[in-house]
Amino acid sequence: MNISGVLALWYANHKRALPWRETKEPYKIWLSEIILQQTRVNQGIDYYYRFIERYPTVGDLARASLDEVLKSWQGLGYYTRARNLHKTARHIYYEQGGKFPGHYEGLLKLPGIGPYTASAIASFCFGQVVAVVDGNVGRVLARLKGIATPVNSNKGKKELQQEACQLIPSHDPATHNQAMIEFGALQCTPGQPDCPVCPLKDICHAWQHDQVDLLPVKAPKRKKRLRYFYYIDIHFNGSLLLHKRSERDIWNSLYQFPLIESQRELAIHELGNTREWQDLFAGLNPQIQAVSPLYSHVLTHQKIQARFIRVHLQQTNAQLEQSYRQISPKQLPNLAVPRLIDKYLKQEKYPKNG
Ligand code: ADE
Repeated sequence: MNISGVLALWYANHKRALPWRETKEPYKIWLSEIILQQTRVNQGIDYYYRFIERYPTVGDLARASLDEVLKSWQGLGYYTRARNLHKTARHIYYEQGGKFPGHYEGLLKLPGIGPYTASAIASFCFGQVVAVVDGNVGRVLARLKGIATPVNSNKGKKELQQEACQLIPSHDPATHNQAMIEFGALQCTPGQPDCPVCPLKDICHAWQHDQVDLLPVKAPKRKKRLRYFYYIDIHFNGSLLLHKRSERDIWNSLYQFPLIESQRELAIHELGNTREWQDLFAGLNPQIQAVSPLYSHVLTHQKIQARFIRVHLQQTNAQLEQSYRQISPKQLPNLAVPRLIDKYLKQEKYPKNG
């Protein structure tokens, strides 16, 4: 039996019953794949059901507001995916009559759909013979074929794609792709795979050459940029002051407290001497009531160290009134906020009055 035959048999005996495997609807497959790029299957299932319940069709997702979609996405992180999800839903619904393109090239043109997602939709929904290569599949191929080129380099990705294309059978590419993904997730796991029971061990380069722990090779990641965020949690007249973040770097369109950013850690008296603090509170007498511990948040290319400074105000100034909305604590659960802020709100037991 060839490799795809062995994998198909293994898959038939080991596959998990997952909701997106019960459908060929492009909308549902697309949604599941975007969610699964962001989280593991266990957590992804909950989000998948939540999205399908709130937005049963691409039209429902298109007609929802971006704020609502961001709120539904909250907790998954990397909100660009949610913004692209909404953008693509609107494009499909308003400009393509609600129909997804039926082939790889057309899918690839949509916002947020790269080669992996386009291959997944094209093969699962339309039976197109295109191979999916995600992290799981890349690991299987690197070990099976003894590929030592870093899997996160362009050269490595190209080699893996070529290997994947050679394996995919023209009959039932959907099952083959699902089997590859599942095999990587359950059998050819990152740490301590159970190789003695593997049906491919006799032809696996890594197993045969005692390199299972050495493959796949990953090139070191570039150093993360360190940023210090000081969020000012201002209490005024029973409300909090928030605005929608418009910076394009991270968390665009999510709500946040007034923010002072620094390249280095600041003592609270230094924070009070910054231009931003002076501008924010011009003519006012801010009373600092509490300073939170550090909250760390690690993103792909940056690490954020944040503190929340709770400040009480008796009155506001023009700058605060123009730039921030007064939000009653009860409204907070309806607003999409970065995970960092959500953690703080939970820690502080918001919503509470005042
Ligand atoms: N991870 C990414 N895509 C997946 C799928 N279709 N099934 C299970 N895990 C996945």
